[in-house]
Amino acid sequence: MAVSDDFIRRLPKAELHLHIEGSFEPELMFEIARRNDVSLPYATVDDLKAAYDFADLQAFLDLYYAGMSVLLKEQDFYDLTAAYMTRAVADGVVHTEIFFDPQGHTERGVAFEVALDGIWRALRDAEAAHGITSRIIMCFLRHLDEDEAFPVLEAAMAHRDRIIGVGLDSSELGHPPQKFQRVFAKARDAGFKLVAHAGEEGPPEYVRDALDLLHVDRVDHGNAAMADPDLVARLGRENMPLTVCPLSNYRLQGVTDMSRHPLRAMLDAGLMATVNSDDPAYFGGYVLDNYLVVRDALDISQDDIVTLARNSIVASFLKADEKARWLLEIQAVAEE
Ligand code: ADE
Ligand code: ZN
Repeated sequence: MAVSDDFIRRLPKAELHLHIEGSFEPELMFEIARRNDVSLPYATVDDLKAAYDFADLQAFLDLYYAGMSVLLKEQDFYDLTAAYMTRAVADGVVHTEIFFDPQGHTERGVAFEVALDGIWRALRDAEAAHGITSRIIMCFLRHLDEDEAFPVLEAAMAHRDRIIGVGLDSSELGHPPQKFQRVFAKARDAGFKLVAHAGEEGPPEYVRDALDLLHVDRVDHGNAAMADPDLVARLGRENMPLTVCPLSNYRLQGVTDMSRHPLRAMLDAGLMATVNSDDPAYFGGYVLDNYLVVRDALDISQDDIVTLARNSIVASFLKADEKARWLLEIQAVAEE
């Protein structure tokens, strides 16, 4: 019997791969554009949604950067984040580690702190209202030079209390991990957790280089690794978490048939795979939808679902006692 939607919703889950700017729903985008007196290149919400038909990662990123350009004030970042947190709570997310792209904002003259303050305030309010915990990871845009990443790291250092880690996102092909080796080394010395997108569109070597050159604590996506048996074995040995995003892979054409999504092979290989939404407003679903789509397309048992929920907690940057508490809660729901 298929695992019920309700069971998956009630299982405590962490979301570990979520770009807050990718949770920008068109309705809110138009509302903020209106109040900031910014024009969007689409007349209506429906026109905008009709453009969400992506040939590849770059086609999506072009729209993603255009969309975030309406975010100008602290309240805008607050509203964006508050809306995501409401959706996450409804999906049974108990802890979330969200990415933001400071350079997507500072490049437009919006201060690092304007974005961070708004995101932070919404996270605090969501925790007070619903108990959901969170962390913030800031990402370097890999299509820009490494030189431009250093001032971003400096800015983050002034907010160590609010930023737990650094990541690497945007256009993967042609921008390999080694391009950011020095700034990641500096972030590591400063004590930040490290993650990087790798193997979303790039080859297995990018995943290996994220491990060897950047020393990441988690790999975001990691799909391409499945083409390299030695790398799969290593990911297993090292218990390296993969933050997998099924609907994203499908909508960006990395996976054209969901029944062939690599998540099944990752679980079969015993990898620490997790399920996440990436950019839910653009890819047609929040984290629960991502669990449901793999449940429906792959041969996913109740034990697999419980494993995925457990993995999300184990792979998080929560403290050991917080992890232990959620793992017990997961077990209790599983045994009901
Ligand atoms: N930025 C936002 N979403 C992304 C993705 N899926 N891959 C790379 N960079 C991103
Ligand atoms: Zn991503």
